[in-house]
Amino acid sequence: MTVENRAPEPLLRIEDLSVRFGTEDGVVSAVRGLRLEVFEREVLGVVGESGSGKSVTGLAVMGLLPPRAEVTGRILLKGEDVTTMTKARLRSVRGRKVAMVFQDPMTALNPVHTIGDQLAEAVRSHQAVSSKSALEQAAEMLDLVGIPRPRERLRNYPHEFSGGMRQRVMIAMAVINKPDLIIADEPTTALDVTVQAQILEKLLEVKDAVGAAIVLITHDLGVVAGMAGRVLVMYAGRAVEYGRTEQVFRTPRMPYTAGLLGSIPGLDASAHRLRPIPGAPPSLINLPPGCPFYPRCPIARDRCATEEPLLADAGHAGHTAACHFRGELSGLSDPTTIFRAEEVDAE
Ligand SMILES: Nc1ncnc2c1ncn2[C@@H]1O[C@H](COP(=O)(O)OP(=O)(O)OP(=O)(O)O)[C@@H](O)[C@H]1O
Ligand SMILES: [Mg+2]
Repeated sequence: MTVENRAPEPLLRIEDLSVRFGTEDGVVSAVRGLRLEVFEREVLGVVGESGSGKSVTGLAVMGLLPPRAEVTGRILLKGEDVTTMTKARLRSVRGRKVAMVFQDPMTALNPVHTIGDQLAEAVRSHQAVSSKSALEQAAEMLDLVGIPRPRERLRNYPHEFSGGMRQRVMIAMAVINKPDLIIADEPTTALDVTVQAQILEKLLEVKDAVGAAIVLITHDLGVVAGMAGRVLVMYAGRAVEYGRTEQVFRTPRMPYTAGLLGSIPGLDASAHRLRPIPGAPPSLINLPPGCPFYPRCPIARDRCATEEPLLADAGHAGHTAACHFRGELSGLSDPTTIFRAEEVDAE
């Protein structure tokens, strides 16, 4: 008997992805040399400041970047490269293999068609079924996402739903063809805090019901801590830290991650003072050489100004960080203390 000890083949494997946009001001390097894997049924959190390339990555996986975007690298979805698919193949893959939940459901739902028509249309774009049976599936999906009286609600238009209910419809739309992968891009940012938790819980429940994995893009580290088994931290279009969420959050090895953790009220019970990251992310046009975090980094040295660090082993299996001096953070009991605490006591 042979003992197999190989990691399972990931559902999604992104290899050396770069995305550039030509603009009037110059070429924007939105994503640079990104590599990641998503395994079946897992939740991968993707975090990072505004403009770090999270949405562009999600859109690239969906094959939804504008035609003028210059894409290099590979995006292997179940072994098939999204970047070289024909339009027809993309249409067939979208919804069935990968689907997206956007921040604002109004951009994804058509205001002039009923919810029932839109859901049924989504079903019929992938399955040869009668409209009656498509509507039946639509009602089942509305029920699954927790919309009361689903059969009646099929006749409503998007504006007749509250924000939270509309986001549930959006989730129903995303999963109606039972995709293997859901990309959720800030799925609850536009909603009330009280509704956010319910929607996220529903998303997890629905994910399990259809057997999908999720890439969860969010600014909220608390949400990642609660939902994502693994996390990818992005900065200036790059992956700068990657690994099991517990390890990355408990023992960050990239100063930027430590900064993110220090700039929110304690994820753990211990009260701590807020330690915000000074400065702002760099422009993605003509990025200087070296580590993009260099100007904001409290432990930066000369080498950081000239040599951009790549993801490298950070001490635990599967945990990697892009910092020449990642070892320095391992000597600290609280790596967030490399940043200065705010003057005002934030307890
Ligand atoms: N169509 C486009 N044309 C030109 N530049 C673009 C385009 N789409 C995105 N960008 C640029 O690419 C960079 C990454 O954008 P992206 O939307 O992925 O950021 P993000 O991490 O999702 O930020 P946020 O947290 O604000 O949603 C930004 O500098 C953005 O201005
Ligand atoms: Mg975004």
